[in-house]
Amino acid sequence: MEILVSPDPEQTAARAAEAVLAGLDRSSRRPSVLGLATGSSPLGLYRELGRAVAAGRADFSTTHGVALDEYVGLPPGHPEGYRQVLLREVCDVVGLAPDRLEVPDGSSTDGAALEAAAAAYEQRIRDLGGVDVQVLGIGANGHLGFNEPGSALTSRTRVKRLSARTRRDNARFFRGLDDVPTHCLTQGLGTILGARRLVLVATGDAKADAVAAALEGPLTASVPASVLQWHADTVVCLDEAAAAGLRNRQYYDDSAEGLPTG
Ligand code: GLP
Repeated sequence: MEILVSPDPEQTAARAAEAVLAGLDRSSRRPSVLGLATGSSPLGLYRELGRAVAAGRADFSTTHGVALDEYVGLPPGHPEGYRQVLLREVCDVVGLAPDRLEVPDGSSTDGAALEAAAAAYEQRIRDLGGVDVQVLGIGANGHLGFNEPGSALTSRTRVKRLSARTRRDNARFFRGLDDVPTHCLTQGLGTILGARRLVLVATGDAKADAVAAALEGPLTASVPASVLQWHADTVVCLDEAAAAGLRNRQYYDDSAEGLPTG
């Protein structure tokens, strides 16, 4: 794991954007496949990618975007459905074509239809040749995507119940808690591990405990983001507040300096 701590959220976003662009360059597959997280954590990163496009350093016009997750039961076009969120926060910002945005179809509430949608999503990711770089945030309870504590470390895309904490955390996007869906379709932890590079962004002190548990605690389904420790190319971009609980901080800072020069 590469753990990069920056003084503030803006510099965290800039470093995360560089990690994304380097990962896409390295994979050299064209068109590339970029895994997309929702939530507030990656918004600065997406804005940085937009700046890179404006500066002629990046081009997402042929890139495929692959969402991590989607709510179950929201009607198509609902403004808080993750398809709409990603159209606004990613496609509009970085120039990714809307018809190249893949989001699991959570519009049904029928179990069999949702199971079929999950299987179709896994197949779609395989057909695209897998994800080159997956952008990730982390839930305050350590979730990745919507893989809540207790999620199998090898899980694939499937229906999950949202935890009470996640529903409370996300109520701010809806009229109130009662309007927050109870279920979702989410890429599994095994699906996420299949991406060639993972880039996690976390800022703010509300994430400090989850970050410390994920990066320095045991690999456990109780902290789904601890599965990052299993991946050979994970870049974690934190601000000081989110890094506050890390015990091994000095080593990460030393490592980030790279090889000696001269
Ligand atoms: C949401 C998303 C996750 C996201 C997390 C954190 O529920 N499903 O992919 O990482 O919550 O959100 P935020 O970045 O707003 O704290």
